[in-house]
Amino acid sequence: MVVLALYSILDKTKARSAEGVKNMNIIVGITGATGVIYGVRLLEAFKKIKNLETHLIISDNAREIIPHETSMKVKKVEKLASKTYDINDLSAAISSGSCQRDAMVIAPCTIKTMSLIANSINLNLLVRAADVTLKERKPLILMVRETPLHYGHLKSMLQLTEMGAIIMPPNPVFYHKPETIDDIIKPSIGRILDILELPNKLVKRWEGLR
Ligand SMILES: Cc1cc2nc3c(=O)[nH]c(=O)nc-3n(C[C@H](O)[C@H](O)[C@H](O)COP(=O)(O)O)c2cc1C
Repeated sequence: MVVLALYSILDKTKARSAEGVKNMNIIVGITGATGVIYGVRLLEAFKKIKNLETHLIISDNAREIIPHETSMKVKKVEKLASKTYDINDLSAAISSGSCQRDAMVIAPCTIKTMSLIANSINLNLLVRAADVTLKERKPLILMVRETPLHYGHLKSMLQLTEMGAIIMPPNPVFYHKPETIDDIIKPSIGRILDILELPNKLVKRWEGLR
């Protein structure tokens, strides 16, 4: 038993070294909240990691917000991923639990999509893939973006937390004295990579005041 546990720790360390990871598959969703740049920066960060494949689903509203909020065309964002899926294609491989995934991240995640996931209303591929990720007990990170929040939003967040999801709003940190928008975005992306135990230099580690 002890040998097995040790083997598993060593194997994990090997799999997540600076050189890359051992064949990881991560599903990335971008939904129609403000802050689609978080999804773009996340895909860029994943792309730098060897042997990590990304499976991208962009909602219809996000497709409109991407060119509005960033200088990028949707096609360019899609090129950052290993594979892109049509949100209406419920027959896609990632719709099934038999299609292995290591994790799923939705950044940013709208209240609408979050609420659908909280209730397993699998009316599109993005929600279905998230539901499958939960049922297969893999990490599901939701970068929910809305403010202020009413009781219903908070109740869904609590329900999702109880179901195993990680609610991670894109709250900025200021202890590293950000000067640009990217300085604000990077730490949030880095914290997602931290949770997934992926190597990154995006987070400036707090070392104490003294
Ligand atoms: C410019 C813009 C910004 C929006 N920002 C948010 C937001 O921050 N959070 C949110 O929950 N909805 C936001 N919405 C509304 C969603 O786009 C809308 O609820 C949509 O139905 C979400 O669908 P989706 O989850 O499939 O992308 C925004 C809409 C627009 C046009």
